[in-house]
Amino acid sequence: MKKLSLALSLGLVALSARSLAVTPEVTDTPVYGNQRGDLFEMKFSPDFQYRTVEAEVNGQKIAFVAYENLVYVKKPLASAYQSMKLYIPKAYFEGGEINGFNAKTAPIFMPNAVGGYLPAKPAAYDDKGFGAQGDKPNAILSALAKGYVVASVGARGRTLQQDGQYIGKAPAAIVDLKAAVRYLHFNDKLMPGDANKIISNGTSAGGALSALLGAAGKSADYADALREAGAVEASEQIFAVSAYCPIANLEHADSAYEWEFNGVNQYQRVDMSKLNAQSYNDRSKAMQMATVKGNLSAAEIAVSDELKATFPAYLNSLNLRDAQGNPLTLDSNGDGSFKDYLAAAVLRGAQKAQAAGVDLRNVAYLQWQDNQISGLNWQGYVHSAKRMKSPPAFDALDLSSGENNLFGDGTLNNRHFTSFSQQHSSLDGQMADAKVIKMMNPMSYLAQSPTRYWRIRAGSMDRDTSHAISAILALKLGMAGKSVDYAIPWGVGHGGDYDLDELFQWTDAITK
Ligand code: DHB
Repeated sequence: MKKLSLALSLGLVALSARSLAVTPEVTDTPVYGNQRGDLFEMKFSPDFQYRTVEAEVNGQKIAFVAYENLVYVKKPLASAYQSMKLYIPKAYFEGGEINGFNAKTAPIFMPNAVGGYLPAKPAAYDDKGFGAQGDKPNAILSALAKGYVVASVGARGRTLQQDGQYIGKAPAAIVDLKAAVRYLHFNDKLMPGDANKIISNGTSAGGALSALLGAAGKSADYADALREAGAVEASEQIFAVSAYCPIANLEHADSAYEWEFNGVNQYQRVDMSKLNAQSYNDRSKAMQMATVKGNLSAAEIAVSDELKATFPAYLNSLNLRDAQGNPLTLDSNGDGSFKDYLAAAVLRGAQKAQAAGVDLRNVAYLQWQDNQISGLNWQGYVHSAKRMKSPPAFDALDLSSGENNLFGDGTLNNRHFTSFSQQHSSLDGQMADAKVIKMMNPMSYLAQSPTRYWRIRAGSMDRDTSHAISAILALKLGMAGKSVDYAIPWGVGHGGDYDLDELFQWTDAITK
């Protein structure tokens, strides 16, 4: 009976008498703490199945209680993704305090595991963080050591299929993350942790979704989709956003990319589909085999020129100002105070690295005065590495990008999401729905964002999207009166969670 109920709850309703008779043992389906027959109980109970874990982080021993595989919607289409792992410091079950927090006041750190807009299962405490290397402590363990409750969340992604339909296309991932936030608010009184202090964390696609959670925390645009997904009725607001290298603002990411990298005609990238096909026994060999390099064709250079030329009008339409109120603009060549602002942000990163003891004397595009870094040549910086993507970087004319795949629908795997690429489509591709495009872009909702605290990082060597994208996000938030901690850390490529001490200093500062 249990197995039949499970099958029904997963949407596998076409059970014939024959298949009922031979239902195999489901061995790889996790046991959900909140599964009750064919229903998922939305009310949290501390009596759900849990285990107690002891671990060590930075030489410090910690103990926590793990509720794993809590499904956060009543009727999941893909329960392994629409679920969270809840980690709670053990001290909070014993009346204890950590870092000044207790069971009632502890903020909830909510990392999402999304990368590449792909389906993501909730990360476990012992997974390596995205972009983390070697034996670095991951964000989940660091958060627990500092007394945060951790809700590690998964979400549907662009490649998920069920019964011949795609079930994870936009806006599924943000709908799922919002449903997870609702679940935390819904259970605020029943769970340790303070749902009014949810801090979302994500990297790359996950960083964009983290920003979107914070921006659209009060928008009604997602209500129907949330109802359909079986989300509980509760607030969707979060307290703070941490976003590493957000792959956001996809409508303008192509022109921003060419504004920054026009003239850099050599590209080099790792083809993720090839990488995934390789054995990971020898990761560096796998990376080598999956690396694609080359030079832009004349046609691609022409596209780059055309896209670059459209960026200043967009940038100027935003009426950006820096913290002192100075306007940040670009002339028709793409030069001007906005470019200077970005160059200054890269420069600050270099100065901070030098102050920390990094020897930068052989970096040709840095300028020096009295042994101090005093300036940065933007052209030199941009040309110091190859570009990663060919133009258009995101909305590919042949519908081949991950983002084209994100904007498919139930039956059409890939679509366009910019009028430029749709008009230049080599495959007569279709355009995604305007409302869905809007619902994936944090820029659509910044003016009405209820989220006060923002931390945005994009490494100086990141070439997955233009540095303009995160800078625009940070500037617009600052102009909307938010508290924004924005920086371009020196020498850092595409990744996140590389500065956990600083990250949790920031979370402590905003929550205490
Ligand atoms: C990611 C990276 C990309 O270059 C991109 O276009 C989308 C997502 C990522 O790492 O999540």
